[in-house]
Amino acid sequence: GKGNHRHFMAKEIAEQPEILSHAIATYVRPADEIVELPASTIDFASIDRLTISGCGTAYLAGLVARYWFESWAKLPVEIDIASELRYRDVPYGDNAAALFISQSGETADTLAALRDAKAAGAVVGAVVNVTESSMAREADGIFPIKAGPEIGVASTKAFTCQLATLASIAIAAGKARGTLTPTEEKRLVRGLLSIPRLMADVLVHDERIEELSHHLQPARDVLYLGRGVSFPLALEGALKLKEISYIHAEGYAAGELKHGPIALIDEHVPVVVIAPLDKHFDKTVSNMHEVIARGAKCLLLTSEEGAARAGYEEDLLGSFILPEVEPDLAPLLYAVPIQLLAYHTAVLKGTDVDQPRNLAKSVTVE
Ligand code: F6R
Repeated sequence: GKGNHRHFMAKEIAEQPEILSHAIATYVRPADEIVELPASTIDFASIDRLTISGCGTAYLAGLVARYWFESWAKLPVEIDIASELRYRDVPYGDNAAALFISQSGETADTLAALRDAKAAGAVVGAVVNVTESSMAREADGIFPIKAGPEIGVASTKAFTCQLATLASIAIAAGKARGTLTPTEEKRLVRGLLSIPRLMADVLVHDERIEELSHHLQPARDVLYLGRGVSFPLALEGALKLKEISYIHAEGYAAGELKHGPIALIDEHVPVVVIAPLDKHFDKTVSNMHEVIARGAKCLLLTSEEGAARAGYEEDLLGSFILPEVEPDLAPLLYAVPIQLLAYHTAVLKGTDVDQPRNLAKSVTVE
């Protein structure tokens, strides 16, 4: 059931700290601060490229993971949405592996892309929630995300569990390839282990997000900006808002804005800026100042130190403060306010949050 929550989506957002700690426990040995994959069939030391695919939110989890595999495992990554990948003539080559991400394990396009990769000789892994699914059956190896049943049509806890699973796989890949030192592994594992507690800290401030969602409710269009690992999260924020509140939203890489979309900016288009205090922070904030100078009303998601460094408080619609987090892993934490912002905006608009129009939980048609 929904417990004391009004919607399954609210329940599934709120239970993330607990669910995520179970998911992490599947892949991490806390006492030693190391990652251990359950009998992986992918030999990361011997592959020379990795393909990642999925649809919707699952694809966006893959987009975050690309940064991780490249940076920690120095592995060339190819990523595309499954409905395109399956129609491309991908030259997988001899030493290829591919990861297919799907909550249901039944999405038709992702399943078809998985079959193609397997037929082309790639070693195929399924990052799935439903371990009795078609993808789990057909893959060479399964990486369960352990999110438990997800009822709300909009994916929330599956996304953060996909991220935790993919982070673990990427750390293991870096270890196998000798590109990640034991010290770096420990730092990342400690970072992962700290996420559930930090998430709980964020969830306490749910009311503040509700307050901020009043700025999105009247909007016709909303932009989300992020850089690096926060860029896919900008896409996820826009996707979540579109699907449950029916407000048109777009996610952009912060640096891409000036190449066109900045023409959309005026005081009626709220801009959600995702800016954890990482190596991109100053650049992202300078992009925020560019849009503020053009009359944009911004909503800043950052840490306390980030907010102090960003300045311009009086020019913001508002900011939401998150605890400091291991920068590479920030998407796991920043996903929470992104989900809550969409949720509260949808509730204010009175839409059917758990069953948005035209959408199905599992898309088994192409
Ligand atoms: C968005 C959402 C969808 C799914 C997509 C893939 O909130 O839920 O975008 O992520 O339909 O579904 P799975 O993961 O079952 O393959």
